[in-house]
Amino acid sequence: MKIVETIAALRSTLKNVQHIAFVPTMGNLHAGHLALVEKAKKKSDFVVVSIFVNPLQFLPSEDFNQYPRSMEADCKLLRSLDVDLVFAPDEKNLFPVQQEILLQLPAVADTLEGIFRPRFFQGVATIVLKFFNIIQPDIAIFGKKDYQQLHIIRLMVQQLNFPIKILDTEIIRAADGLALSSRNQYLNGPERQEACHLYQALNTIVGETASGQRDFLLLEKKAVEYLSGRGWQVDYISIVNRQTLLPACTDDQQLAVLAAARIGTTRLIDNVEFTC
Ligand code: PAF
Repeated sequence: MKIVETIAALRSTLKNVQHIAFVPTMGNLHAGHLALVEKAKKKSDFVVVSIFVNPLQFLPSEDFNQYPRSMEADCKLLRSLDVDLVFAPDEKNLFPVQQEILLQLPAVADTLEGIFRPRFFQGVATIVLKFFNIIQPDIAIFGKKDYQQLHIIRLMVQQLNFPIKILDTEIIRAADGLALSSRNQYLNGPERQEACHLYQALNTIVGETASGQRDFLLLEKKAVEYLSGRGWQVDYISIVNRQTLLPACTDDQQLAVLAAARIGTTRLIDNVEFTC
């Protein structure tokens, strides 16, 4: 496995490589990332994984400095999975000058996560676009855990005509249902025990719709009350149409429920897809 730190070294390594599958990450890899890599390996002979904590997608008040970095352990893991190339650029190499050109995104980027993390998706889409231009992959793989991110990347690829196939992987969960995330390590013991209730609240919504309840606003409200009663600060719990991520209408069938909530100081997101 080769590790390259500059765009020039990456381009020269990839000069004669065809059929690249790309897995973008911010490092601190867990089983969720490994599922992305395994899918990439199944789909292509050459797998590139990027490790870069992207400053463009953090607000000044967020955890950019604190975000867990574990380059050595990540590379060990990726080597064991037989990844071909790790691209781990430093900030100066990716941003030799201030990144003033930023993607303007559609309105969906200002909903859900976008309300609580303004400019987050602009930062994500801009860095992913830079990586797509630098690496020129045939396939790129994103997890469904970041459901709205995946949706926006699909729109970007479609509307900017990237010849890249976007694939997804299912959320990987701990035994108690908590979706794996690098931020789970911020949780202390009692918070970690509590954390699975976010998934439970989403599953309750899915269960109630399966029993015929179509009052989505009521279901969302009950889920917020359930979590708030347990000490969570809920940013949103929203039942949406899977194709548009707009609030679901009663006759929509392909739905997802998306949530973000804070337990202690840790903000977690999760989602569940379901059919009505
Ligand atoms: O999902 C992530 O880890 C990040 O948002 C991504 C896609 C690597 C861009 O920095």
